[in-house]
Amino acid sequence: MERKTVAFVGLGVMGYPMAGFLSKAGYSTKVYNRTYSKAQKWQDEYQGIACETPKQAAQECDIVFVCVGNDNDVRSVVYGEEGILAGMKPGAILVDHTTTSANLAVELAEAAQKAGNEFIDAPVSGGQAGAENGVLTIMCGGDSAIFDQVAPVMDVYAKQATLLGENGQGQRCKMVNQICIAGVLQGLSEAIQLAQQSGLDIEQVVNTLKHGAAGSWQMENRATTMAQDKFDFGFAIDWMRKDLGFCLEEAQRVGLDLPLTQQVDQRYAELQAQGLGRMDTSVLIKALNK
Ligand SMILES: NC(=O)c1ccc[n+]([C@@H]2O[C@H](COP(=O)([O-])OP(=O)(O)OC[C@H]3O[C@@H](n4cnc5c(N)ncnc54)[C@H](OP(=O)(O)O)[C@@H]3O)[C@@H](O)[C@H]2O)c1
Repeated sequence: MERKTVAFVGLGVMGYPMAGFLSKAGYSTKVYNRTYSKAQKWQDEYQGIACETPKQAAQECDIVFVCVGNDNDVRSVVYGEEGILAGMKPGAILVDHTTTSANLAVELAEAAQKAGNEFIDAPVSGGQAGAENGVLTIMCGGDSAIFDQVAPVMDVYAKQATLLGENGQGQRCKMVNQICIAGVLQGLSEAIQLAQQSGLDIEQVVNTLKHGAAGSWQMENRATTMAQDKFDFGFAIDWMRKDLGFCLEEAQRVGLDLPLTQQVDQRYAELQAQGLGRMDTSVLIKALNK
C-alpha cells in the first residue's frame, strides 16, 4: 500500500516525539515549528524536512497534524497566507491534537470544508511519557470515514484512538479526562500529605496501593515526585488552567455545577500567580495548607 505523506506542526513536549514516530514508521514527514531551531534539531534527529512556514509543511501532504498551545495558537498556524489551509491539497485531512474548545473544533471543521479539506479534532492524553513511548490515548471527533483514514497513521504513537461523535466531541471527551485528573490530583495531594505527616514511606505506600482500588496513573507516575518536591517537568499548570476553563464553560452551557473542578482551578490560579505556571500539575500539593 502506498505510504501517506504527512506534516506535523508544533514540536513541543508532545509534538516533537509524536512527529518522530511518524518518521520512524516510514511516513514521508515534514515539520514546522514557530521557533525554527527546534525544527532543525528534529531534522537532525529524524528523517524528514524542516519547513519555514505551516503552508510549506502542509503542501502535498495527505494528512497534516497540529499540536500547539491554545485556540488562538491553532488559528495562527491554520489560517492566513502562510497557514496550513493555504497549503493543503484538495481532500487532504487536518488533524488537531491540541487541547482546544469544542467551538474551535467546529470552526476548523467548517473552515476545512470550505477549503475542500477534512477535519478531525483529536486531543490526546498520556502526558510527555505517553508521547515519548508512543502510547497516547486519542479522543476524536469527526466523520467516521475520515477517522478510518487517519486512525492507522495515528496508531504509530497511540495505545488507543476512539471516535466519540461529530466534530467537538473529541474535545468534550478530553474535558471529561481533565476533570478526572483534577479530582485525582486533589485527592492524591491530600493523601500524600497525610501519609508524610503520619510517618509513612511514600514509595512503600505507592507500591502497596497501586494495584488496589485507589491505584491511578497519577499515583504511579507522580506520587513519588510530589513527595520529593519535584515539579519541573510534565504537564504545565498553564495548559491545565486553559483546559479547566473549557470544562467550566461546557458545564455552564449544559447547566452543571462542578465544585471540585472550580476549587482546583482556583488553586492552580494561585500557583500561577506565584510564578509556577510551567510546573507539572502535580504541584497542586503546594497549594494545600501545610
Ligand atoms: N504536555 C502534556 O503532558 C500534554 C498532555 C496532553 C495534552 N497536551 C496539550 O497538547 C498541546 C501542546 O502541549 P505541549 O506540552 O507540547 O506544549 P509545549 O511544550 O509548550 O509546546 C507548544 C508548541 O506549540 C507551539 N506554539 C505555541 N503557540 C504558537 C503559536 N502562536 N504559533 C505557532 N506555534 C505555537 C510552540 O512553538 P515554540 O517552540 O516556538 O514555542 C511549541 O511547538 C496543548 O494544547 C496541551 O494542552 C499536553
